[in-house]
Amino acid sequence: MKNKAILVFCSIIIIFILFNSCQTEQDIIYARYYVNGKGFYEQHCQNCHSKDGLGLQALIPPLTDSIFLIKNKNKLACFVKQGMDHAIIINGKLYEGNMPAQTHLANIDIAAVITYVTNSFGNNQGLYDVKSADADLETCD
Ligand code: HEC
Repeated sequence: MKNKAILVFCSIIIIFILFNSCQTEQDIIYARYYVNGKGFYEQHCQNCHSKDGLGLQALIPPLTDSIFLIKNKNKLACFVKQGMDHAIIINGKLYEGNMPAQTHLANIDIAAVITYVTNSFGNNQGLYDVKSADADLETCD
């Protein structure tokens, strides 16, 4: 009886380990974008938008506002690459700051940083890959 219980217990553990090690290719790609994006965020964005994405009072808007980020998903790459200097309203607050352009970032780096931002700070939008960034950057003004 005791042996049977041990056997069942071990089987459950083994199934659990197998299940967790079977990451799909998509998960691995996502993880790569996310981790690289975190590095870019710390280097190029965090000074202003802060570590937790909360921004800085009336000066820097937060990146926690998933409604703004969802609505403007196809514009985020252009915001990062070209900078931003038009008035925006987030959580009912007006922001009229100036975000510098990040023209030195390659499209794949922009895709990574957007994947990081849109899946951190309470956002949960999934992978934003370089193909999406290429397509969205074609539409910049
Ligand atoms: C020098 C400070 C500064 C840096 C560095 C900076 N931003 Fe911004 N960002 C701003 C300001 C200010 C605004 C608001 C601009 C406006 O009102 O038009 C903004 C707006 C935004 C927005 C749209 C509004 C929002 O909060 O959702 C996004 C998205 C964004 N930044 C992402 C980034 C990312 C990603 C990086 C790094 C690649 C970055 N920013 C680097 C200052 C900065």
